[in-house]
Amino acid sequence: MSHADDQTDTRRDFLYYATAGVGAVTVGAGVWPLVNQMNPSADVQALSSIEVDVSGVVEGTQISVLFLGKPVFIRRRTAEEIEAARTVELGDLLDGEARNRNISGADAADENRALDETGEWLVMIGVCTHLGCVPIGDGAGDYGGWFCPCHGSHYDTSGRIRRGPAPENLPIPVASFVNETTIKLG
Ligand code: FES
Repeated sequence: MSHADDQTDTRRDFLYYATAGVGAVTVGAGVWPLVNQMNPSADVQALSSIEVDVSGVVEGTQISVLFLGKPVFIRRRTAEEIEAARTVELGDLLDGEARNRNISGADAADENRALDETGEWLVMIGVCTHLGCVPIGDGAGDYGGWFCPCHGSHYDTSGRIRRGPAPENLPIPVASFVNETTIKLG
């Protein structure tokens, strides 16, 4: 990939990220005028969770939203992506930890990282664990997942580091389905 292509991809990714963030997110708590200005914990509470409408996310695509100052990738994976993630031997991983705040002490099996049992939905913090760049998604890199062009870190279809300088898998935030088309972060 040329440098020019690289820049185009990065720009496109960012634009998509920006528009998705505006269109899909609603703050999940509180009506702003009712927040007591003398009570800063109310501000924190209002920002500590958001609900994301994922009804428009078709299989094989993802959206990025901003949550607590960081991009969060929400991907609806294809059957091929799920199979690729679930047939990897754990011994082949560079980081065997789950990096999943919902499951402490678990390993990095895809079943411990996906949001739902079928593995269709994967929610991750989109920050490279090397030096904090935002990886490119949509089947990027040598493992068909995400690629961080800053220094060449390749993540697989479960967001696990497979090659490059990043030391850890992409982290999994606290997330859950509120209903069939809404994911709550936080
Ligand atoms: S910040 Fe991602 S590879 Fe360096």
